[in-house]
Amino acid sequence: MASEASQLIPKILIKVEAVFLLFIAFYLYCKKQNKELKSKRPVSLLFCRASRPGSTLLCRPAETRSGLALYFCFGVFRIGIKAYFCHNLKEIEAMQSLNTCETDVYLADDLRSDLAEMIKPYKDEKVFVLTDGTTRRLCFPLIEDVPGIDRNRVIEIAPGDDAKDTDALIYVWAALVEGGATRHSLLVNLGGGMPCDLGGFAAATFKRGIDFINIPTTLLAQVDASVGGKTGINFKGYKNEIGSFKQAKYVLVDTSLLRSLDGPNLKSGFAEMIKHALLVKGDLLNRTIAFDILNPDMAILAGLVAESIRIKDDIVSDDPYEKGIRKALNLGHTAGHAIESLALKRGKPVLHGYAVAYGIVVELYLAWKKLGFSEELLRLLSEYIYKIFGRFEISKGDYTYLYDAMTHDKKNSSGRINFTLLREPGDIAIDTHCEREEVIEALEFYRQSYI
Ligand SMILES: NC(=O)c1ccc[n+]([C@@H]2O[C@H](COP(=O)([O-])OP(=O)(O)OC[C@H]3O[C@@H](n4cnc5c(N)ncnc54)[C@H](O)[C@@H]3O)[C@@H](O)[C@H]2O)c1
Ligand SMILES: [Zn+2]
Repeated sequence: MASEASQLIPKILIKVEAVFLLFIAFYLYCKKQNKELKSKRPVSLLFCRASRPGSTLLCRPAETRSGLALYFCFGVFRIGIKAYFCHNLKEIEAMQSLNTCETDVYLADDLRSDLAEMIKPYKDEKVFVLTDGTTRRLCFPLIEDVPGIDRNRVIEIAPGDDAKDTDALIYVWAALVEGGATRHSLLVNLGGGMPCDLGGFAAATFKRGIDFINIPTTLLAQVDASVGGKTGINFKGYKNEIGSFKQAKYVLVDTSLLRSLDGPNLKSGFAEMIKHALLVKGDLLNRTIAFDILNPDMAILAGLVAESIRIKDDIVSDDPYEKGIRKALNLGHTAGHAIESLALKRGKPVLHGYAVAYGIVVELYLAWKKLGFSEELLRLLSEYIYKIFGRFEISKGDYTYLYDAMTHDKKNSSGRINFTLLREPGDIAIDTHCEREEVIEALEFYRQSYI
Protein backbone atom coordinates (compact mmCIF):
# COMPACT_ATOMS: atom_id res chain seq x y z
CA MET A 1 0.00 0.00 0.00
CA ALA A 2 2.71 2.37 1.10
CA SER A 3 4.87 1.47 -1.93
CA GLU A 4 1.89 2.05 -4.30
CA ALA A 5 1.42 5.50 -2.80
CA SER A 6 5.12 6.25 -3.13
CA GLN A 7 4.98 5.30 -6.82
CA LEU A 8 1.91 7.42 -7.36
CA ILE A 9 3.35 10.59 -5.84
CA PRO A 10 6.20 11.03 -8.36
CA LYS A 11 3.73 10.42 -11.19
CA ILE A 12 1.45 13.17 -9.87
CA LEU A 13 4.44 15.44 -9.41
CA ILE A 14 5.57 14.82 -13.00
CA LYS A 15 2.09 15.67 -14.21
CA VAL A 16 1.98 18.83 -12.11
CA GLU A 17 5.45 19.81 -13.30
CA ALA A 18 4.51 19.21 -16.92
CA VAL A 19 1.40 21.32 -16.56
CA PHE A 20 3.41 23.98 -14.80
CA LEU A 21 6.04 24.06 -17.56
CA LEU A 22 3.28 24.13 -20.15
CA PHE A 23 1.78 27.06 -18.36
CA ILE A 24 5.10 28.96 -18.18
CA ALA A 25 5.59 28.37 -21.89
CA PHE A 26 2.13 29.69 -22.63
CA TYR A 27 2.72 32.63 -20.32
CA LEU A 28 5.94 33.63 -22.10
CA TYR A 29 4.27 33.15 -25.47
CA CYS A 30 1.37 35.38 -24.43
CA LYS A 31 3.70 37.99 -23.06
CA LYS A 32 5.50 38.13 -26.40
CA GLN A 33 2.19 38.40 -28.21
CA ASN A 34 1.07 41.18 -25.96
CA LYS A 35 4.26 43.07 -26.55
CA GLU A 36 3.94 42.74 -30.27
CA LEU A 37 0.31 43.74 -30.25
CA LYS A 38 0.99 46.60 -27.86
CA SER A 39 -1.93 45.43 -25.79
CA LYS A 40 -2.64 47.72 -22.88
CA ARG A 41 -3.68 44.82 -20.70
CA PRO A 42 -0.61 42.81 -19.72
CA VAL A 43 -1.11 39.07 -19.76
CA SER A 44 -0.68 39.05 -15.97
CA LEU A 45 -3.87 41.10 -15.70
CA LEU A 46 -5.73 38.70 -17.97
CA PHE A 47 -4.36 35.88 -15.84
CA CYS A 48 -5.63 37.47 -12.60
CA ARG A 49 -9.05 38.06 -14.10
CA ALA A 50 -9.29 34.57 -15.57
CA SER A 51 -8.08 32.80 -12.44
CA ARG A 52 -11.14 33.87 -10.47
CA PRO A 53 -13.44 30.83 -10.35
CA GLY A 54 -16.40 31.14 -12.66
CA SER A 55 -15.01 34.28 -14.23
CA THR A 56 -15.57 35.26 -17.81
CA LEU A 57 -12.60 36.37 -19.81
CA LEU A 58 -13.60 38.97 -22.33
CA CYS A 59 -10.92 39.09 -24.99
CA ARG A 60 -10.48 42.03 -27.24
CA PRO A 61 -9.25 41.47 -30.77
CA ALA A 62 -5.64 42.13 -29.85
CA GLU A 63 -5.90 39.68 -27.01
CA THR A 64 -7.42 36.76 -28.85
CA ARG A 65 -4.24 34.70 -28.94
CA SER A 66 -3.20 35.27 -25.35
CA GLY A 67 -6.83 34.73 -24.28
CA LEU A 68 -6.94 31.39 -26.09
CA ALA A 69 -3.69 30.32 -24.49
CA LEU A 70 -5.01 31.14 -21.03
CA TYR A 71 -8.27 29.40 -21.81
CA PHE A 72 -6.47 26.14 -22.60
CA CYS A 73 -4.11 26.53 -19.68
CA PHE A 74 -6.96 26.82 -17.23
CA GLY A 75 -8.67 23.97 -19.04
CA VAL A 76 -5.69 21.74 -18.16
CA PHE A 77 -6.11 22.74 -14.54
CA ARG A 78 -9.81 22.00 -14.92
CA ILE A 79 -10.72 25.48 -13.75
CA GLY A 80 -13.71 26.16 -15.92
CA ILE A 81 -13.42 29.69 -17.18
CA LYS A 82 -15.66 31.03 -19.84
CA ALA A 83 -13.67 32.78 -22.51
CA TYR A 84 -15.71 35.06 -24.66
CA PHE A 85 -14.15 36.04 -27.94
CA CYS A 86 -17.07 38.19 -28.90
CA HIS A 87 -17.87 37.86 -32.59
CA ASN A 88 -18.78 41.45 -32.92
CA LEU A 89 -15.38 42.47 -31.62
CA LYS A 90 -13.73 40.10 -34.06
CA GLU A 91 -15.76 41.55 -36.84
CA ILE A 92 -14.80 45.05 -35.92
CA GLU A 93 -11.17 44.02 -35.63
CA ALA A 94 -10.41 46.21 -38.59
CA MET A 95 -11.36 49.27 -36.62
CA GLN A 96 -8.65 51.22 -34.98
CA SER A 97 -9.02 50.14 -31.38
CA LEU A 98 -7.43 52.27 -28.74
CA ASN A 99 -7.36 49.06 -26.76
CA THR A 100 -8.19 50.91 -23.59
CA CYS A 101 -8.48 49.07 -20.33
CA GLU A 102 -11.82 50.12 -18.94
CA THR A 103 -14.04 50.55 -21.99
CA ASP A 104 -13.49 49.62 -25.60
CA VAL A 105 -12.84 52.93 -27.28
CA TYR A 106 -12.68 52.89 -31.06
CA LEU A 107 -11.64 55.56 -33.48
CA ALA A 108 -14.19 55.28 -36.26
CA ASP A 109 -13.01 54.39 -39.75
CA ASP A 110 -16.48 54.74 -41.08
CA LEU A 111 -19.03 55.84 -38.51
CA ARG A 112 -22.00 54.07 -40.11
CA SER A 113 -20.47 50.65 -40.63
CA ASP A 114 -18.60 50.70 -37.32
CA LEU A 115 -21.79 51.51 -35.46
CA ALA A 116 -23.65 48.85 -37.45
CA GLU A 117 -21.18 46.21 -36.19
CA MET A 118 -21.46 47.40 -32.61
CA ILE A 119 -25.25 47.31 -32.48
CA LYS A 120 -25.62 44.05 -34.43
CA PRO A 121 -25.94 41.92 -31.26
CA TYR A 122 -28.80 44.15 -30.06
CA LYS A 123 -30.84 44.08 -33.26
CA ASP A 124 -33.56 41.83 -31.87
CA GLU A 125 -33.78 44.05 -28.85
CA LYS A 126 -34.54 47.68 -29.22
CA VAL A 127 -31.85 50.26 -29.84
CA PHE A 128 -32.58 53.80 -28.64
CA VAL A 129 -30.64 56.93 -29.52
CA LEU A 130 -30.35 59.89 -27.15
CA THR A 131 -29.58 63.27 -28.71
CA ASP A 132 -29.96 66.89 -27.79
CA GLY A 133 -31.72 69.29 -30.17
CA THR A 134 -28.45 70.26 -31.87
CA THR A 135 -26.97 66.81 -32.31
CA ARG A 136 -30.32 65.52 -33.54
CA ARG A 137 -30.13 68.09 -36.33
CA LEU A 138 -26.40 67.95 -37.10
CA CYS A 139 -25.23 64.46 -36.17
CA PHE A 140 -28.18 62.07 -36.21
CA PRO A 141 -28.58 62.26 -40.02
CA LEU A 142 -25.11 60.66 -40.26
CA ILE A 143 -26.30 57.48 -38.54
CA GLU A 144 -30.03 57.32 -39.19
CA ASP A 145 -29.78 54.76 -41.98
CA VAL A 146 -27.64 52.34 -39.96
CA PRO A 147 -29.50 48.99 -39.73
CA GLY A 148 -31.05 48.75 -36.26
CA ILE A 149 -31.37 52.50 -35.81
CA ASP A 150 -34.98 53.62 -35.91
CA ARG A 151 -35.93 57.29 -36.05
CA ASN A 152 -39.02 56.46 -33.95
CA ARG A 153 -36.75 55.49 -31.12
CA VAL A 154 -34.79 58.74 -30.96
CA ILE A 155 -35.08 60.47 -27.60
CA GLU A 156 -34.38 64.18 -27.85
CA ILE A 157 -33.64 66.43 -24.92
CA ALA A 158 -32.85 70.17 -24.86
CA PRO A 159 -29.21 71.15 -25.45
CA GLY A 160 -26.99 72.67 -22.79
CA ASP A 161 -25.95 71.87 -19.26
CA ASP A 162 -29.11 73.42 -17.75
CA ALA A 163 -31.04 70.46 -19.18
CA LYS A 164 -28.85 67.90 -17.37
CA ASP A 165 -31.47 67.56 -14.67
CA THR A 166 -34.07 65.26 -13.14
CA ASP A 167 -36.78 66.41 -15.60
CA ALA A 168 -34.71 65.30 -18.58
CA LEU A 169 -33.73 62.08 -16.82
CA ILE A 170 -37.38 61.23 -16.13
CA TYR A 171 -38.16 62.07 -19.73
CA VAL A 172 -35.54 59.57 -20.93
CA TRP A 173 -36.74 56.83 -18.54
CA ALA A 174 -40.33 57.43 -19.69
CA ALA A 175 -39.34 57.25 -23.35
CA LEU A 176 -37.55 53.94 -22.70
CA VAL A 177 -40.59 52.50 -20.92
CA GLU A 178 -43.03 53.75 -23.57
CA GLY A 179 -40.76 52.55 -26.36
CA GLY A 180 -40.78 49.02 -24.92
CA ALA A 181 -37.13 48.88 -23.85
CA THR A 182 -36.08 45.63 -22.18
CA ARG A 183 -33.15 44.73 -19.96
CA HIS A 184 -31.27 43.84 -23.14
CA SER A 185 -31.92 47.07 -25.00
CA LEU A 186 -29.17 49.48 -25.89
CA LEU A 187 -28.95 53.24 -25.54
CA VAL A 188 -26.70 55.13 -27.96
CA ASN A 189 -25.73 58.54 -26.58
CA LEU A 190 -25.06 60.85 -29.49
CA GLY A 191 -23.88 64.20 -28.20
CA GLY A 192 -21.46 66.12 -26.06
CA GLY A 193 -20.70 65.55 -22.41
CA MET A 194 -24.23 66.47 -21.42
CA PRO A 195 -26.13 63.69 -23.27
CA CYS A 196 -23.28 61.22 -22.56
CA ASP A 197 -23.45 61.93 -18.79
CA LEU A 198 -27.24 61.95 -18.61
CA GLY A 199 -27.73 59.03 -20.99
CA GLY A 200 -25.09 56.98 -19.18
CA PHE A 201 -26.89 57.56 -15.89
CA ALA A 202 -30.29 56.78 -17.41
CA ALA A 203 -28.84 53.52 -18.78
CA ALA A 204 -27.10 52.70 -15.48
CA THR A 205 -30.38 52.97 -13.60
CA PHE A 206 -32.98 51.70 -16.10
CA LYS A 207 -33.97 48.15 -15.12
CA ARG A 208 -30.86 48.09 -12.91
CA GLY A 209 -28.63 48.80 -15.86
CA ILE A 210 -28.71 48.41 -19.63
CA ASP A 211 -25.81 48.72 -22.07
CA PHE A 212 -24.96 52.04 -23.63
CA ILE A 213 -22.61 53.28 -26.32
CA ASN A 214 -21.23 56.81 -26.38
CA ILE A 215 -20.70 58.58 -29.67
CA PRO A 216 -19.19 61.83 -28.41
CA THR A 217 -19.75 64.81 -30.69
CA THR A 218 -17.79 67.55 -28.91
CA LEU A 219 -14.04 67.61 -28.41
CA LEU A 220 -14.56 67.78 -24.65
CA ALA A 221 -16.68 64.65 -24.71
CA GLN A 222 -14.29 62.81 -27.03
CA VAL A 223 -11.21 63.28 -24.86
CA ASP A 224 -12.88 63.41 -21.49
CA ALA A 225 -16.60 63.07 -20.71
CA SER A 226 -17.39 59.96 -22.76
CA VAL A 227 -14.51 57.93 -21.31
CA GLY A 228 -14.01 56.84 -17.72
CA GLY A 229 -17.41 55.73 -16.54
CA LYS A 230 -18.62 58.80 -14.64
CA THR A 231 -22.29 59.37 -15.35
CA GLY A 232 -24.76 61.71 -13.72
CA ILE A 233 -26.91 64.80 -13.60
CA ASN A 234 -26.92 68.18 -11.86
CA PHE A 235 -29.21 68.55 -8.86
CA LYS A 236 -30.38 71.52 -6.76
CA GLY A 237 -27.83 73.78 -8.38
CA TYR A 238 -24.90 71.39 -7.73
CA LYS A 239 -23.00 69.98 -10.69
CA ASN A 240 -23.01 66.21 -11.12
CA GLU A 241 -24.54 65.81 -7.65
CA ILE A 242 -26.40 62.59 -8.51
CA GLY A 243 -24.66 59.90 -10.50
CA SER A 244 -22.90 56.59 -10.65
CA PHE A 245 -19.91 54.87 -12.15
CA LYS A 246 -20.93 52.81 -15.18
CA GLN A 247 -18.67 52.04 -18.11
CA ALA A 248 -19.99 52.41 -21.63
CA LYS A 249 -20.03 49.21 -23.66
CA TYR A 250 -18.16 51.04 -26.40
CA VAL A 251 -17.09 54.57 -27.13
CA LEU A 252 -16.98 55.34 -30.84
CA VAL A 253 -14.96 58.45 -31.60
CA ASP A 254 -15.18 60.18 -34.96
CA THR A 255 -13.38 63.51 -35.12
CA SER A 256 -15.18 64.43 -38.35
CA LEU A 257 -18.25 65.04 -36.15
CA LEU A 258 -16.37 68.05 -34.81
CA ARG A 259 -16.58 69.90 -38.12
CA SER A 260 -19.83 71.57 -37.11
CA LEU A 261 -18.61 72.43 -33.61
CA ASP A 262 -18.08 76.14 -32.91
CA GLY A 263 -14.63 77.53 -32.05
CA PRO A 264 -15.28 78.15 -28.33
CA ASN A 265 -16.50 74.58 -27.75
CA LEU A 266 -13.53 73.24 -29.70
CA LYS A 267 -11.17 75.26 -27.52
CA SER A 268 -13.01 74.15 -24.38
CA GLY A 269 -12.20 70.52 -25.17
CA PHE A 270 -8.66 71.47 -26.14
CA ALA A 271 -8.04 72.74 -22.59
CA GLU A 272 -8.60 69.19 -21.30
CA MET A 273 -6.11 67.95 -23.91
CA ILE A 274 -3.52 70.41 -22.59
CA LYS A 275 -4.26 69.08 -19.09
CA HIS A 276 -3.78 65.47 -20.24
CA ALA A 277 -0.54 66.41 -22.02
CA LEU A 278 0.76 67.92 -18.75
CA LEU A 279 0.17 64.61 -17.00
CA VAL A 280 2.69 62.66 -19.07
CA LYS A 281 6.37 62.89 -19.88
CA GLY A 282 7.60 63.19 -23.46
CA ASP A 283 6.86 65.62 -26.23
CA LEU A 284 3.04 65.54 -26.24
CA LEU A 285 2.80 68.87 -24.44
CA ASN A 286 4.98 70.57 -27.06
CA ARG A 287 3.04 68.96 -29.91
CA THR A 288 -0.26 69.95 -28.32
CA ILE A 289 0.55 73.61 -27.86
CA ALA A 290 2.14 73.72 -31.32
CA PHE A 291 -1.19 72.54 -32.80
CA ASP A 292 -3.24 75.32 -34.36
CA ILE A 293 -6.58 74.85 -32.60
CA LEU A 294 -7.91 78.10 -34.10
CA ASN A 295 -7.51 76.62 -37.57
CA PRO A 296 -7.47 72.88 -36.91
CA ASP A 297 -6.12 70.20 -39.21
CA MET A 298 -8.59 67.39 -38.49
CA ALA A 299 -6.18 64.58 -39.38
CA ILE A 300 -3.58 65.79 -36.88
CA LEU A 301 -6.31 66.45 -34.33
CA ALA A 302 -7.54 62.84 -34.63
CA GLY A 303 -4.07 61.58 -33.63
CA LEU A 304 -3.84 63.96 -30.68
CA VAL A 305 -7.36 62.97 -29.56
CA ALA A 306 -6.33 59.30 -29.56
CA GLU A 307 -3.28 60.07 -27.41
CA SER A 308 -5.37 62.14 -25.05
CA ILE A 309 -7.97 59.40 -24.57
CA ARG A 310 -5.21 56.88 -23.82
CA ILE A 311 -3.84 59.10 -21.06
CA LYS A 312 -7.23 59.43 -19.42
CA ASP A 313 -7.97 55.74 -19.77
CA ASP A 314 -4.59 54.70 -18.34
CA ILE A 315 -5.25 56.79 -15.24
CA VAL A 316 -8.86 55.64 -14.90
CA SER A 317 -7.86 51.98 -15.25
CA ASP A 318 -5.44 52.32 -12.36
CA ASP A 319 -8.07 53.93 -10.15
CA PRO A 320 -11.61 53.72 -11.54
CA TYR A 321 -13.28 55.04 -8.37
CA GLU A 322 -11.00 58.01 -7.71
CA LYS A 323 -9.40 56.80 -4.50
CA GLY A 324 -5.96 58.01 -5.55
CA ILE A 325 -4.24 58.65 -8.87
CA ARG A 326 -7.46 59.46 -10.75
CA LYS A 327 -7.28 62.75 -8.84
CA ALA A 328 -4.50 63.66 -11.31
CA LEU A 329 -7.29 64.44 -13.74
CA ASN A 330 -8.34 67.29 -11.43
CA LEU A 331 -5.30 69.33 -12.46
CA GLY A 332 -6.55 72.88 -13.09
CA HIS A 333 -10.00 71.99 -11.81
CA THR A 334 -9.90 73.13 -8.17
CA ALA A 335 -9.16 76.72 -9.17
CA GLY A 336 -11.03 76.23 -12.45
CA HIS A 337 -14.33 75.29 -10.77
CA ALA A 338 -14.04 78.35 -8.51
CA ILE A 339 -13.53 80.59 -11.57
CA GLU A 340 -16.45 78.86 -13.30
CA SER A 341 -18.77 79.63 -10.40
CA LEU A 342 -17.49 83.23 -10.13
CA ALA A 343 -18.36 83.70 -13.80
CA LEU A 344 -21.80 82.20 -13.19
CA LYS A 345 -22.33 84.52 -10.21
CA ARG A 346 -21.45 87.48 -12.43
CA GLY A 347 -24.10 86.28 -14.87
CA LYS A 348 -21.46 85.72 -17.57
CA PRO A 349 -20.78 81.97 -17.60
CA VAL A 350 -17.59 80.68 -19.20
CA LEU A 351 -17.25 77.29 -20.86
CA HIS A 352 -15.83 74.60 -18.57
CA GLY A 353 -12.60 74.17 -20.54
CA TYR A 354 -11.86 77.89 -20.45
CA ALA A 355 -12.18 77.88 -16.66
CA VAL A 356 -9.89 74.81 -16.53
CA ALA A 357 -7.31 76.64 -18.64
CA TYR A 358 -7.34 79.62 -16.25
CA GLY A 359 -7.24 77.14 -13.35
CA ILE A 360 -4.14 75.53 -14.83
CA VAL A 361 -2.33 78.88 -14.66
CA VAL A 362 -3.23 79.30 -10.96
CA GLU A 363 -2.25 75.73 -10.11
CA LEU A 364 1.02 75.74 -12.07
CA TYR A 365 2.01 78.79 -10.06
CA LEU A 366 1.37 76.75 -6.88
CA ALA A 367 3.37 73.92 -8.42
CA TRP A 368 6.28 76.31 -9.04
CA LYS A 369 6.03 77.73 -5.52
CA LYS A 370 5.72 74.45 -3.65
CA LEU A 371 7.28 71.80 -5.85
CA GLY A 372 9.82 73.60 -8.01
CA PHE A 373 7.90 73.37 -11.32
CA SER A 374 9.89 75.17 -14.03
CA GLU A 375 9.34 78.94 -13.95
CA GLU A 376 10.07 79.14 -17.67
CA LEU A 377 7.34 76.62 -18.50
CA LEU A 378 4.93 78.34 -16.13
CA ARG A 379 5.42 81.63 -17.97
CA LEU A 380 5.27 80.03 -21.40
CA LEU A 381 2.02 78.20 -20.63
CA SER A 382 0.32 81.15 -18.97
CA GLU A 383 1.11 83.31 -22.03
CA TYR A 384 -0.12 80.55 -24.33
CA ILE A 385 -3.38 80.18 -22.39
CA TYR A 386 -3.90 83.93 -22.46
CA LYS A 387 -3.38 83.90 -26.24
CA ILE A 388 -5.83 81.05 -26.88
CA PHE A 389 -8.45 81.47 -24.17
CA GLY A 390 -8.32 85.24 -23.72
CA ARG A 391 -8.92 87.16 -20.58
CA PHE A 392 -11.07 86.35 -17.59
CA GLU A 393 -10.48 89.25 -15.27
CA ILE A 394 -10.52 88.96 -11.54
CA SER A 395 -9.94 91.67 -8.95
CA LYS A 396 -8.42 91.50 -5.47
CA GLY A 397 -12.00 91.74 -4.19
CA ASP A 398 -12.72 88.32 -5.73
CA TYR A 399 -10.02 86.45 -3.80
CA THR A 400 -12.19 85.60 -0.78
CA TYR A 401 -15.01 84.31 -2.96
CA LEU A 402 -12.61 82.22 -5.05
CA TYR A 403 -10.80 80.83 -2.01
CA ASP A 404 -14.08 79.91 -0.31
CA ALA A 405 -15.35 78.30 -3.50
CA MET A 406 -12.20 76.15 -3.58
CA THR A 407 -12.70 75.02 0.04
CA HIS A 408 -16.28 74.04 -0.84
CA ASP A 409 -15.18 71.98 -3.81
CA LYS A 410 -16.56 68.50 -3.13
CA LYS A 411 -13.10 67.00 -3.51
CA ASN A 412 -11.87 68.86 -0.43
CA SER A 413 -12.64 68.11 3.17
CA SER A 414 -12.78 70.05 6.45
CA GLY A 415 -11.87 73.43 5.01
CA ARG A 416 -8.47 72.28 3.69
CA ILE A 417 -7.71 72.66 0.03
CA ASN A 418 -5.81 69.87 -1.65
CA PHE A 419 -4.56 70.41 -5.16
CA THR A 420 -3.24 68.12 -7.83
CA LEU A 421 0.14 69.69 -8.62
CA LEU A 422 3.14 68.81 -10.77
CA ARG A 423 6.85 68.73 -10.06
CA GLU A 424 7.28 68.68 -13.81
CA PRO A 425 5.09 67.45 -16.68
CA GLY A 426 4.32 63.80 -15.93
CA ASP A 427 5.48 63.99 -12.30
CA ILE A 428 2.21 64.27 -10.42
CA ALA A 429 1.63 65.12 -6.75
CA ILE A 430 -1.99 64.54 -5.78
CA ASP A 431 -3.48 65.82 -2.50
CA THR A 432 -0.99 68.65 -2.08
CA HIS A 433 -2.24 70.90 0.68
CA CYS A 434 -1.84 74.65 0.14
CA GLU A 435 -2.31 77.38 2.74
CA ARG A 436 -4.65 80.30 2.16
CA GLU A 437 -1.75 82.76 1.66
CA GLU A 438 -0.25 80.54 -1.04
CA VAL A 439 -3.56 80.31 -2.88
CA ILE A 440 -4.03 84.09 -2.68
CA GLU A 441 -0.48 84.57 -4.00
CA ALA A 442 -1.30 82.27 -6.95
CA LEU A 443 -4.47 84.26 -7.66
CA GLU A 444 -2.37 87.43 -7.56
CA PHE A 445 0.04 85.92 -10.12
CA TYR A 446 -2.94 85.06 -12.33
CA ARG A 447 -4.46 88.55 -11.96
CA GLN A 448 -1.16 90.28 -12.73
CA SER A 449 -0.52 88.05 -15.76
CA TYR A 450 -3.84 89.06 -17.18
CA ILE A 451 -3.69 92.83 -16.77
N1 LIG B 1 -18.28 62.18 -17.16
C1 LIG B 1 -17.15 62.84 -17.15
O1 LIG B 1 -16.10 62.29 -16.83
C2 LIG B 1 -17.14 64.28 -17.56
C3 LIG B 1 -15.93 64.94 -17.77
C4 LIG B 1 -15.95 66.26 -18.21
C5 LIG B 1 -17.16 66.89 -18.41
N2 LIG B 1 -18.34 66.23 -18.17
C6 LIG B 1 -19.64 66.87 -18.41
O2 LIG B 1 -19.73 67.16 -19.81
C7 LIG B 1 -20.55 68.30 -19.99
C8 LIG B 1 -19.83 69.28 -20.86
O3 LIG B 1 -19.55 68.67 -22.09
P1 LIG B 1 -19.75 69.42 -23.48
O4 LIG B 1 -18.96 70.66 -23.47
O5 LIG B 1 -19.52 68.43 -24.53
O6 LIG B 1 -21.27 69.88 -23.35
P2 LIG B 1 -22.59 69.69 -24.23
O7 LIG B 1 -22.93 68.30 -24.41
O8 LIG B 1 -23.60 70.55 -23.54
O9 LIG B 1 -22.19 70.33 -25.64
C9 LIG B 1 -21.93 71.71 -25.79
C10 LIG B 1 -22.77 72.32 -26.93
O10 LIG B 1 -22.30 71.81 -28.17
C11 LIG B 1 -23.41 71.33 -28.94
N3 LIG B 1 -22.89 70.28 -29.81
C12 LIG B 1 -22.60 69.01 -29.48
N4 LIG B 1 -22.04 68.38 -30.52
C13 LIG B 1 -22.02 69.26 -31.55
C14 LIG B 1 -21.54 69.18 -32.90
N5 LIG B 1 -20.96 68.09 -33.37
N6 LIG B 1 -21.68 70.27 -33.68
C15 LIG B 1 -22.24 71.41 -33.18
N7 LIG B 1 -22.69 71.54 -31.93
C16 LIG B 1 -22.57 70.47 -31.11
C17 LIG B 1 -24.41 70.87 -27.90
O11 LIG B 1 -25.70 70.82 -28.44
C18 LIG B 1 -24.25 71.94 -26.84
O12 LIG B 1 -25.01 73.06 -27.17
C19 LIG B 1 -20.86 68.84 -18.61
O13 LIG B 1 -22.15 68.40 -18.25
C20 LIG B 1 -19.82 68.18 -17.72
O14 LIG B 1 -20.27 68.02 -16.39
C21 LIG B 1 -18.34 64.95 -17.78
ZN1 LIG C 1 -12.93 69.12 -16.85
